[in-house]
Amino acid sequence: MSTVESIPALVKRILDQYALEPFGSHGLLHWVRVHESGIEIASSSGADKDVVAYFALLHDSGRLNESRDPQHGPRGAALARLLHEEGLIDLNPAQLQDLLTAIEHHNSHERVEDMAGDRITIGTCWDADRLDLPRVGTTVNPKYLHTQEARRLANLWDHEDANFITDNRRSLLASWGVNYFSHPFIGAATQ
Ligand SMILES: [Fe+2]
Ligand SMILES: [Fe+2]
Repeated sequence: MSTVESIPALVKRILDQYALEPFGSHGLLHWVRVHESGIEIASSSGADKDVVAYFALLHDSGRLNESRDPQHGPRGAALARLLHEEGLIDLNPAQLQDLLTAIEHHNSHERVEDMAGDRITIGTCWDADRLDLPRVGTTVNPKYLHTQEARRLANLWDHEDANFITDNRRSLLASWGVNYFSHPFIGAATQ
């Protein structure tokens, strides 16, 4: 994510096509928490932080409902490919392939061991997403986590903290062009 100034334009594109409530259970605050956990895990797992950051923004972008939607992974991967072609995703070909794999298969029952590419990065993306499951009442089963750091974070998950808009979360949203207190969601890219 070297071109930070392009992120609001990317987020605007994602939100413009997002079928659900932007602050719903698979929306922006979930993306923020996946970003936070993913970067924290990556600091010890050695995952590619750029891929993890794009995964947070895009993995649920293709959802059409807030419950069972088995095709939202492939839809999200197709959108990521398109946005890369549009120049809104700044990754090299190997990074892009890892991002697409992580997004496409994140809600499948496939194993990270069976994925081609950088499995540490893909596993870190999936762990970051899984760590936020308690928000919808699902306990994280450590058996499905890939990294030691995610297992540690799973034990620290706190409902109040997860729903708290910290300064860090507010500035992350601001860097995406989203003002948490303004509706509708006017990003810097539109100004
Ligand atoms: Fe998902
Ligand atoms: Fe998710």
